[in-house]
Amino acid sequence: MTYKLFFIFGLTFAVLFGIAAYQNDKREWKKYQTDYFKMELKKATTTEEKASIKFANEIKQIMVPDLKRVDRCTTCHMGVDNPKFGDENKIYKTHPNLDQHPFEKFGCTVCHKGQGRATTVKAAHGKAGFWEEPMWEKEYIQVSCGKCHSGQEVKGAPLLSFGRKLFAEKGCAGCHKIEGVSAGNIGPELTTVGSKYKHEFDYTRVKGEHTVANWIYEHFKDPQAVTPGTIMPNMNLTDEEAKALTIYMLSLTKEKIPYEYRAGKKG
Ligand code: HEC
Ligand code: HEC
Ligand code: HEC
Ligand code: HEC
Repeated sequence: MTYKLFFIFGLTFAVLFGIAAYQNDKREWKKYQTDYFKMELKKATTTEEKASIKFANEIKQIMVPDLKRVDRCTTCHMGVDNPKFGDENKIYKTHPNLDQHPFEKFGCTVCHKGQGRATTVKAAHGKAGFWEEPMWEKEYIQVSCGKCHSGQEVKGAPLLSFGRKLFAEKGCAGCHKIEGVSAGNIGPELTTVGSKYKHEFDYTRVKGEHTVANWIYEHFKDPQAVTPGTIMPNMNLTDEEAKALTIYMLSLTKEKIPYEYRAGKKG
């Protein structure tokens, strides 16, 4: 009897809790949209402009089938393509330099990572550790540029460009194969090293964060400290050089980019 009661009680609690969580999720993005509409209204100058602003809450999404993505980021980041939001805070701010990569065609996660379909800040940005695709921190966004831009110098991605240059200059090519770049076979092939999972690396001797990015970074700074006995030499790389090479390594992924999304076709 008590057991049954306990069960019913537990079930009711679970249902109520579920509903509350669901409503909270819904409220979160609606609040950001409503704040946006209010700001839009303040910025409107003519009566027609004011009349055209409807406080209509809806999930926005950009479908990018060729890149296998559905991105709902603009559900909250509503000002990214509104030139009037240039000086607003970063949620609504007009997006910098996007004329080359129109949103309708590229979406957002191809550069930022994150969970495209999610509609809460926590899940969409996915920075809390257990998410599969945590959003890149600002300077790591350059990792993504490398998927489509294969030239040595990529404008707007200085660390990626520097990393590619260092790979050629530091003798990495003699030990490592990267398809289309180098043919070394003393160390592991690096063609898709950026797609390796976190658990494929041994963090026993990694001092900082246990992330793939940090494993690669610390290994560059001191290969023997991370993989005792390795023949990969310590090249006394500066922090900036190690970071640039890390960004280049992370850009080497399995993701297949369709031809029309690859840069440099015309030139
Ligand atoms: C539920 C609303 C919401 C959704 C959905 C959302 N964001 Fe955000 N985003 C925010 C807010 C609020 C901030 C301000 C800083 C914060 O609270 O983290 C922000 C900040 C950012 C920033 C700048 C600051 C930082 O943390 O680096 C970037 C970049 C960003 N979002 C990208 C994205 C991308 C890409 C997506 C889709 C995968 C997305 N956001 C989905 C609400 C949202
Ligand atoms: C071509 C790659 C690319 C795409 C596509 C892209 N972004 Fe960005 N985004 C960037 C880069 C690079 C920055 C950092 C710019 C800088 O240096 O301030 C950035 C910055 C941001 C910021 C922070 C602005 C700030 O000043 O702090 C937000 C928010 C953001 N992006 C959201 C989005 C959303 C939402 C989408 C999709 C609608 C999107 N981005 C699509 C590359 C991209
Ligand atoms: C999904 C593929 C893709 C991603 C990711 C991407 N780009 Fe592009 N980018 C393109 C395409 C396609 C063009 C169109 C011009 C062309 O074909 O060369 C372009 C054009 C450009 C241009 C102008 C033309 C040039 O080459 O000077 C710049 C600059 C640029 N991208 C920088 C970046 C940066 C910086 C990033 C990372 C934040 C980035 N791109 C991410 C595909 C991509
Ligand atoms: C003398 C040969 C040699 C040279 C030169 C060398 N490496 Fe290595 N590298 C190795 C060996 C062997 C391993 C595997 C053992 C280990 O973890 O250190 C390795 C591991 C790696 C890994 C980890 C790969 C994985 O899947 O675990 C990366 C990334 C890497 N090297 C990049 C580079 C880069 C970039 C350079 C140039 C700055 C470089 N290596 C120079 C031999 C070399």
